Amino acid sequence: MDKAKNYHMSPDEFRKYGKEIIDWIADYYENVEKYPVLSQVNPNDIKKQLPETPPAESESFDQIIADVNNIVMPGITHWQSPNFYAYFPSNSSGPSVLGDLLSSGLGVQGMLWSTSPACTELETQVMDWLSQMLQLPEKFKSSSTGGGVIQDTASSAALSAVLAAREQKTNYLTNDKGCTGKLTAYISTQTHSSVEKAIKIAGIGKENLRLIGVDENLAMKPEALEKAISEDLSAGLTPFFVCASVGSTSTNAMDPLIPIGEISRKYKLWMHIDAAMSGTAAICPEYRHFLNGVEYADSFSFNPHKWMFTNFDCNCFFVADRSALIKTLSILPEYLKNKATESGAVFDYRDWHIQLGRRFRSLKLWFVIRHYGVNGLQYHIREHIRMAQEFAEWVKSSDDFYLVAPAPLNLVCFRHKGNDEFNKNLLETINKTGKMFFSHTVINGQYVMRMCIGQTNTQPKHVIEAWKTIQETAEELLNQDK
Ligand SMILES: Cc1ncc(COP(=O)(O)O)c(C=O)c1O
Repeated sequence: MDKAKNYHMSPDEFRKYGKEIIDWIADYYENVEKYPVLSQVNPNDIKKQLPETPPAESESFDQIIADVNNIVMPGITHWQSPNFYAYFPSNSSGPSVLGDLLSSGLGVQGMLWSTSPACTELETQVMDWLSQMLQLPEKFKSSSTGGGVIQDTASSAALSAVLAAREQKTNYLTNDKGCTGKLTAYISTQTHSSVEKAIKIAGIGKENLRLIGVDENLAMKPEALEKAISEDLSAGLTPFFVCASVGSTSTNAMDPLIPIGEISRKYKLWMHIDAAMSGTAAICPEYRHFLNGVEYADSFSFNPHKWMFTNFDCNCFFVADRSALIKTLSILPEYLKNKATESGAVFDYRDWHIQLGRRFRSLKLWFVIRHYGVNGLQYHIREHIRMAQEFAEWVKSSDDFYLVAPAPLNLVCFRHKGNDEFNKNLLETINKTGKMFFSHTVINGQYVMRMCIGQTNTQPKHVIEAWKTIQETAEELLNQDK
């Protein structure tokens, strides 16, 4: 190849197309309500429009963008639509997207302090800020015995917690010798599947995972937990880990942290708290009580990528004793040795999670926290909760619908008084219109609709429209059956 020639995008081209992409995203946000919230394509519709083989020659950026518009966009489910009420949200915001873009532009890989000191130190500080915002106990701060680290997801955080708990309980020998099959772990029947996955990956074995029963509010029963632990001890097994949820996925059930914490202290179990979505609410002092008992925890995790205006992925994982985590996960091959690590004066975050390489994710969190300020974040979280609570009141006062579980924050679980088939049909009919998107769960064997309000731009007018659509569609379906 001619020496002067290359295929790279020049800085001028990057500037030109970069501005176009920012415009594209701004237009998208302005027009997001015009798209069907749930993608309406069929399986293979997208793939069949893509060439079988990769392009041999360079293609124009204009052509690539045209294909995004024509091929990709119809296959998008619009998580950033204010009419998205399904699952838990995965919300986003301008400052977050810009922080993420900057992180991509810098292209930093922050596995070690020395591979970009700012990547590590900004993260440490932002995690300490969050620790203050959530009023976490002192032990979770970097200035104390613990600290926080950004992980990709709550699933990875749970796995890190299980591994550290396993090693701590077995005197750090399982890493060397492998599992004995005697360790037992405890979650409720409502705990997110990621913890079961972590137990399997960590070699504990699903047979050694106890699913503890729940009360009428779908929260873990502490007395059932203690009974299960006692039985395992009597059988010669070694209880080592319990996960309590602050906001279960199905219904936002709140496990009682204080009694679970007391039991975990009594039997020397590692207590992990999974507050994936609802942890964010604790930024508002009036909802901080959902974290009462966090002082017993060995680890705590929540996802700003769910409900804190920070685009996916961004999980915040805090540990009370960072040495347990580091001792579990640290391996130092020759090629990573450096003076800063040897000095012991720095954090090398590669030792705090599963993978080695890591993105500069704290930039987007820093942008978000500084753009909104704590007051701004509190304002929007309160608004989401206020709208959800109002929706719950409408359901309660309706003759045709009723609440199926308590709605402590921004998730409302409800159903029509008709049978399961009717409720399923109702949900699917609404989703097919593309006007809004709900998901479902099953509670005590009954099909239930879930309305979760957490998208950045959801306003009262959207929620009013949603309730109107739900009622009118139910009416229409009933009339059709007559
Ligand atoms: C309570 C809870 N925990 C964990 C997870 C897993 O989240 P992630 O996708 O970050 O692994 C979810 C996902 O919705 C969740 O609701």
